[in-house]
Amino acid sequence: MLVTQVVIVGAGAAGLMCALSAAGRGRQVLLLDHANKAGKKILMSGGGRCNFTNLYSEPANFLSGNAHFCKSALARYSQWDFIALVAKHAVPYHEKKLGQLFCDHKASDILDLLLDECAKAGVELRLDTSISEIAKQEAGYQLQTSAGLVSCESLVIATGGLSIPTLGASGFGYQVAEQFGHSLLPTRAGLVPFSITDPQLKMLCTQLSGTSVEDCRVSCKGKSFVENILFTHRGLSGPAILQISSFWTPGDTLEINLLPHLDLPAWLTQQQTERPNSELKTLLGELFTKKMAALLAEQWFVSKPMKQYHPGELLAIAEQLNRWQVVPAGTEGYRTAEVTLGGVDTHEVSSKTMESLKSPGLYFIGEVLDVTGHLGGFNFQWAWASGYAAAQYA
Ligand code: FDA
Repeated sequence: MLVTQVVIVGAGAAGLMCALSAAGRGRQVLLLDHANKAGKKILMSGGGRCNFTNLYSEPANFLSGNAHFCKSALARYSQWDFIALVAKHAVPYHEKKLGQLFCDHKASDILDLLLDECAKAGVELRLDTSISEIAKQEAGYQLQTSAGLVSCESLVIATGGLSIPTLGASGFGYQVAEQFGHSLLPTRAGLVPFSITDPQLKMLCTQLSGTSVEDCRVSCKGKSFVENILFTHRGLSGPAILQISSFWTPGDTLEINLLPHLDLPAWLTQQQTERPNSELKTLLGELFTKKMAALLAEQWFVSKPMKQYHPGELLAIAEQLNRWQVVPAGTEGYRTAEVTLGGVDTHEVSSKTMESLKSPGLYFIGEVLDVTGHLGGFNFQWAWASGYAAAQYA
């Protein structure tokens, strides 16, 4: 039987940060993962460039049944701490927009720096290792693994959420939580595209597949995000859509303002005065792609020369473009979701240490907890911060 001080299950973002930090303070750390490679989601993230944190990260960027839970960890390991680590390894990066920091080259720069820090601190990493059973002992835990029995003082669960099963996601962390008496908040896919089944809307999405509209305001249940939207064969995607998906529940209507930065009624009236013979379709072609303008003019409006519209008709056109109502059929689910909402109830975990309030020596970090960030590097920041917090005590 292998005896060690700390076992961390899950060599993703949170597990790697926890491992390097715990080993860095002298703990003997064994990091286990059932996948054949550590940090697969890091490699896939940010379109291959890893949006590793956000300059403006703060507790308001996180959803949880317990809004205060994330505050302590985020304050003790902030975006500036991770940026300092990235700088220490001379990884080149840039701000893309809205404080989102991406690698200049590739996401593997971030994984490599974490693995490098783990190796230097003496972390033992074992891949292709699954765990079939966990038993509580008088002081610590015993794990039945595919590589034999392991006993430890502290057990850290860093197995993430359910999104993208092909990257190693499993419900393991939730099972462990339940085994040790924890409550789970219902899980659902977050930061995920919407699917559309309404025939007319579906046709529009399919015809415009690949078309992106810049800086739309997408709202649902009093929450709004201004970012790009993207039409897809299945429905709607793009950053604004992914953001709002975390707040959407089945049956909710989205309101999309396609031109939030333009006073559309005033603009249409001005065009009517200045270009009375121009067709609506032609004018919309100056605001959207020609193809989109033609489709909207055909499917939503009757396109005619501007001089032929009554003031009421112009207002109706503005209303449709400013307050487009969409009822998605659903989301694309865990197959494409970036995160899992819900998870281990944070009321039963210490916000300072990430230790279970039900079973001493057991810790939960990262996405397995009911803490979910907005799109933009916040989810990794939570992984770094919660991993670091647990490492100070595990
Ligand atoms: P993570 O999922 O990273 O790691 C869990 C680990 O546990 C995995 O290595 C898995 O193999 C292992 N595991 C699971 N079950 C196990 C078991 N039974 N036994 C042993 N090991 C097990 N966020 C962000 O901030 N910026 C970004 O750019 C992106 N981009 C992005 C793109 C895509 C495609 C996805 C899917 C997600 C993102 N995210 C993101 C979200 C981000 O990847 C996510 O929030 C973090 O990886 C969560 O870190 P964790 O360490 O908690 O889980």
